[in-house]
Amino acid sequence: MRLPGPRHAPGARHRARETVDAAPAAHPAAHHAAPTRRPGALAAGAGALGVAVLLAGAAAALTAATIGAPPDVDRAAAARLAAASRPSPPPLVSSPTPAVAACELPGVVEALSAGDDEAALIAMGGAAAVREAVITGGAPCIDLADPTRLWVVVDKLRPYEPLGHEPADLTRVDGVRVFNEGLLRAEAAAAFAELVAAAQEAGAGQIAITSGYRSFDDQATQHARWVAAEGADSADEVSARPGYSEHQSGLAVDVVACDGACGDIARFASTRQGRWLAENSWRHGFIVRYEQGQAGTTGYSPEPWHIRYLGVVLAAAYHGGGFHTLEDFWGLPAAPDYGD
Ligand code: DAL
Ligand code: ZN
Repeated sequence: MRLPGPRHAPGARHRARETVDAAPAAHPAAHHAAPTRRPGALAAGAGALGVAVLLAGAAAALTAATIGAPPDVDRAAAARLAAASRPSPPPLVSSPTPAVAACELPGVVEALSAGDDEAALIAMGGAAAVREAVITGGAPCIDLADPTRLWVVVDKLRPYEPLGHEPADLTRVDGVRVFNEGLLRAEAAAAFAELVAAAQEAGAGQIAITSGYRSFDDQATQHARWVAAEGADSADEVSARPGYSEHQSGLAVDVVACDGACGDIARFASTRQGRWLAENSWRHGFIVRYEQGQAGTTGYSPEPWHIRYLGVVLAAAYHGGGFHTLEDFWGLPAAPDYGD
């Protein structure tokens, strides 16, 4: 792997903590038009209302997102948002094990088997309904430990199974400057390219990648460098142990602000790119995963530069519901420390 000469090398606190890799040099990079987002997955959404009826128990408790499509979400994404936020009908008192039935609906089974996670969510009544069903134990087909799904949750209590998991569809991100590791899973790569283009169109400046996918071995190397520099406890606040990093999913990316030359990720939050990202990443299916004040739940110091792809359906529900951690979104235990 490449280990760059770190502008944020382990050693000083209060700087870009995560990445020994987070040291973008001021390389020029080709910039191409961003691809059009895959329309995907909406056919199955036609059955959403009916399925939401089956999600009776969940629907009764449905409080989270009522989401309007924002003006700069593309048509396919807007349709997904509309389906995701469609109100659920009243619960059916007589419906037995409703969410299990929803998992067995042909549209859901078909979408899951095709790997179209967003279509499955829509077919089950939208992200808020699925969230409630998961929390109440009623959505066995939504496995939060499955690293191939957009809903996977990885934290200090939730390592990959298997620990050395490798995504199958890693690809480069078109038209975006990359320093260090630049691969993401295909769907996340396309969405990220759109995010970068949208930021520029909005006048927020250029966003580049400092680190996308990292393998188990990459993460082991990085974590070991932090341990050597700052000790194990301090390292664990900023760097995941191998087998526990979101980067290993191919769905997480660290970014940096570039205006000609690229800046230091320690100052990313105060850049126009950082402010834009915090407000708008969800429109493109990403969330800021490690927010200020959430270390007691996430286990990590704030990382405003680390965004995680969930897909627009889930990210809109997360944003609209006012959530700040995936653990809270899915009703999982806080994960401030490893289990050992
Ligand atoms: N910095 C994050 C927590 C990681 O190493 O994955
Ligand atoms: Zn990161």
